[in-house]
Amino acid sequence: MNNYSFDNITDRRGTNSVKYDLLKQRYGKDDLIPMWVADMDFDTPPFIFEAIAKRAQHPILGYTFRDESYNITIVDWLKNRHQWDIEPTQISFTPGVVPGLLMAMEAVSEIGDEIIVQTPVYFPFFTTIKQNGRIMLNNNLKEIDGNYTMDFDNLKSIITPKTKAIIISNPHNPVGRVWSKEELGELVDICYDNGIKIISDEIHSDIVFSPNKHLPISSISEKAAEISFVFMAPSKTFNIAGLSTSFVVIQNTKLYKKYEKKLDAFHLWQGNIFGNVATQAAYSKKGAEWLDEMLDYVEGNINYVIDFINERIPKIFVHKPEATYLLWFDMKEYGMTHKELTDFFINDVGIAINQGRIFGSGGDGYIRMNAATSKAVVENAMLKLEVAISNLR
Ligand SMILES: Cc1ncc(COP(=O)(O)O)c(C=O)c1O
Repeated sequence: MNNYSFDNITDRRGTNSVKYDLLKQRYGKDDLIPMWVADMDFDTPPFIFEAIAKRAQHPILGYTFRDESYNITIVDWLKNRHQWDIEPTQISFTPGVVPGLLMAMEAVSEIGDEIIVQTPVYFPFFTTIKQNGRIMLNNNLKEIDGNYTMDFDNLKSIITPKTKAIIISNPHNPVGRVWSKEELGELVDICYDNGIKIISDEIHSDIVFSPNKHLPISSISEKAAEISFVFMAPSKTFNIAGLSTSFVVIQNTKLYKKYEKKLDAFHLWQGNIFGNVATQAAYSKKGAEWLDEMLDYVEGNINYVIDFINERIPKIFVHKPEATYLLWFDMKEYGMTHKELTDFFINDVGIAINQGRIFGSGGDGYIRMNAATSKAVVENAMLKLEVAISNLR
């Protein structure tokens, strides 16, 4: 039996929502269906609001800290959800995953060192590396018939003595891969042998479709745990990204200390009261039930889109993602330039999507569409796309 409904979408316009209220600034129009930024249209679950409301009844919101029970909540979630056993002392804080990636990168490299990414990938990785004086090396993912894998031969060939870390997206945004134990194992072997640390962005780890199973990279072996940082958050999972509360698991004590030094240097350890309260409310039995229902609903949307595209717009190639509510459309068959594809979605289709190009090399000719909205919105978007495509040429 379902306890939650995901069919009704609350109007977010006028709430300083990036997804809705920045449409005009980003796309030149605000009458677009917003299927861009990775933020869900679903209401944040009620039990999270109840916890926030309870805390808000206290009249003082002064400096706060996360106590032992906070870390234990995370330990329990990781054990129950991912069968990963960690110690409370291995958890540290970051307001967002992206600033955490930066702190980890700073902890293990110097200005002028090289950091690897695997494109197409979540583009703030590029800014984090380049705007902080590091050199970005790219190990393009290998794509064969829409299936993406890591290119280990190329990876080995680009490593130099200055290569200090690789930032991975696990599961991978935007291609939707849940990296397998074999793939992660091979990556760990290469990194371990070359003194490279793995900074693993696992923000999408809870949004995985059965039978796929997320593997936190540090959980696969002792070697992996020795060289990895695992960043996670309840932000994507429960639609609470506006609370800026995330965490990192670092099992190597030396790396943990180095990370904490950076956290201290930036004075970012504090966090905020409501983010802490929301995290504990989210990582609960109720949270797990809500998440399972949300995943079923989103998977329904994703299956709908895949079937629709395959039957009615087969020149678009799209694979079912193993994880994330993001769909990665290969539109290369239409031979549009980057600008033509951008204009087509804004002016002809009427949907705000993310352009493939922004995800780096290998992204041209693709678009990323967010399916975490109501079924009715998804159906409408698909009809609009079909009509716009049939009007082409
Ligand atoms: C792979 C990935 N990492 C990080 C983020 C954002 O993290 P945060 O807002 O916590 O910095 C996103 C959001 O879309 C993402 O997809």
